[in-house]
Amino acid sequence: MSRVQDIINSRRTIYRFSDLPVSEADLEIGFTAANNAPCHKHTFPWQFYVLGHETREKLLDRVVELAHEKAEKKGDFDKDLAGRKAISKIRDVPIMIAVTSKLSPNDQFREQEDFAATVCSLHNLVLSLWDLGIGSQWSTGSITRDSSTYEHLEIDEQKERIIGFLKVGYPEMTPEKKTVNPDKFKHYLP
Ligand SMILES: Cc1cc2nc3c(=O)[nH]c(=O)nc-3n(C[C@H](O)[C@H](O)[C@H](O)COP(=O)(O)O)c2cc1C
Repeated sequence: MSRVQDIINSRRTIYRFSDLPVSEADLEIGFTAANNAPCHKHTFPWQFYVLGHETREKLLDRVVELAHEKAEKKGDFDKDLAGRKAISKIRDVPIMIAVTSKLSPNDQFREQEDFAATVCSLHNLVLSLWDLGIGSQWSTGSITRDSSTYEHLEIDEQKERIIGFLKVGYPEMTPEKKTVNPDKFKHYLP
């Protein structure tokens, strides 16, 4: 098998990162791959926001509130622990990137196609980094969808939608694939 097949098939979501820093040069290689994703009508609907320390700190009050709300709903009484874990998920990740896709309120089909293109772009970044030994986790947790996040990142909620945060770093461990889709997804029609 070619190397590219191996990169695609071996990729796993990484949840635990080592302290090894990811170089800006490697990140830039990933961004080049991201920007080479296909997009219909050449709309280039994706934007990538790399969240520095200051920006991440701004998110934390709301992160804790959301963690407390979730813990209450689950009947989990150790709210403080939930809050601390939620903070760590933002603060202790080597690199965190918010990925947005352009909105087109007057053209639902364009918006859908642009969303599809942005997913391609995000995954190009993921695979390109994986090729360099760097892992990532796509997160759509509640903080990625909260209005306060748009304010702190200075993203216009009317113009762009955050499709997730991509957490990036060198894997501390690579999980095994737990569930494999049964071989029922292919349909060869006559
Ligand atoms: C659109 C999307 C959103 C995801 N959001 C989350 C998330 O919020 N939290 C999380 O732990 N994993 C998230 N993931 C990662 C998936 O859980 C992961 O891809 C899945 O378990 C399959 O594992 P694999 O990526 O190693 O094949 C997301 C993946 C996708 C594609």
